Amino acid sequence: MDRVNAIWNHQVYQAYYRRLEKLEEERRYCRHQMPHLLDVARIAYIRSLEENMGFDRDVVYAAAILHDIGKAPQYEEEIPHEAAGEKIAGEILDSLPENAAFSDREKQMILTAVRGHRRLRENPEELERLLYESDKASRMCFACPVRELCDWEEEKKNREIRA
Ligand SMILES: [Fe+2]
Repeated sequence: MDRVNAIWNHQVYQAYYRRLEKLEEERRYCRHQMPHLLDVARIAYIRSLEENMGFDRDVVYAAAILHDIGKAPQYEEEIPHEAAGEKIAGEILDSLPENAAFSDREKQMILTAVRGHRRLRENPEELERLLYESDKASRMCFACPVRELCDWEEEKKNREIRA
């Protein structure tokens, strides 16, 4: 997991992550810090294993921990977080130390998945779909105290525990 930890420890990642953490300090709805990011990573990697998708674990975890990194620019500047996130993630992935680098193909897959995780487009790439579905599956609406107030469409809310 050295490559994933290199993302976490990257100064650009830390700067956006801490900004977002502060912005969401009082948030009653779903937050976008490590508990969520790692829920998504683990759901996605379990699905990848169960369905024999064959994804590299670092690639799945990298996409998951990067997917909401654009949330601070969305709160502060109204830039859609999937677009801001793709840009920030690209900057991070392009400046990892050599021993923690992702290949060009891996970077492209991760960035496409970050970009596409909010709304599923037609004919998404496989990692893009996996990230989208794992993100949505991760939310525990059935146990959420502010479920009725949340602006997620009713039919999208998870009403029960799912794998
Ligand atoms: Fe998310």
